[in-house]
Amino acid sequence: QVEPKIAPSMLSSDFANLASEAERMVNFGADWLHMDIMDGHFVPNLTIGAPVIESLRKHTKAYLDCHLMVTNPLDYVDQLGKAGASGFTFHVEVSKDNWQELVKRIKSKGMRPGVALKPGTAVEEVYPLLEGENPVEMVLVMTVEPGFGGQKFMPDMMDKVRTLREKYPTLDIEVDGGLGPSTIDMAAAAGANCIVAGSSVFGAQEPAQVISLLRASVNK
Ligand code: DX5
Ligand code: ZN
Repeated sequence: QVEPKIAPSMLSSDFANLASEAERMVNFGADWLHMDIMDGHFVPNLTIGAPVIESLRKHTKAYLDCHLMVTNPLDYVDQLGKAGASGFTFHVEVSKDNWQELVKRIKSKGMRPGVALKPGTAVEEVYPLLEGENPVEMVLVMTVEPGFGGQKFMPDMMDKVRTLREKYPTLDIEVDGGLGPSTIDMAAAAGANCIVAGSSVFGAQEPAQVISLLRASVNK
């Protein structure tokens, strides 16, 4: 049985008050903090990088689940490791040729490697990364086109989650995009256990209630 990890996406937080926003989420029951790193090239948006992770790390002990929406993830490994990132999830679309080197480097810097796939990418693309002596430890199935918070959940992606869960009963499977009270049951039933939620948590009157509802659905 895999454990639920509820990961509020800090992309929906007030970036000008990142430390207190992080603390608030941890107090509300978050297991992880999801950090969206974008380069304005892999996706048409630009967010934060290693300097911000390094600053935030001084204010929290929380697991920082970094999602790299960048064209050259290898360029970020050393810096993010030093900054105190916990998880390093890169996109399979940009790492076909160097994922083995990437995974080794990520582990050598004390981070946990994960691989993400965009809605248009077939689930089979990540299979090689789950085999062999240096496998990734998490698969992130995007349930919206990466780049922005607040988009609509894509239920068609649940086939990928189901397929992965059948093949890998103990794998951490993360879903990201449009997750909230009205979509969590679909994702949890398909087999997702790591749940990223931005607007549904930060936009709620009572974020703690949303976080516990997400957890309860995974535990069902
Ligand atoms: C989108 C990011 C997500 C985003 C999710 O590219 O990867 O983490 O913050 O936001 P919501 O939960 O609002 O869809
Ligand atoms: Zn993300």
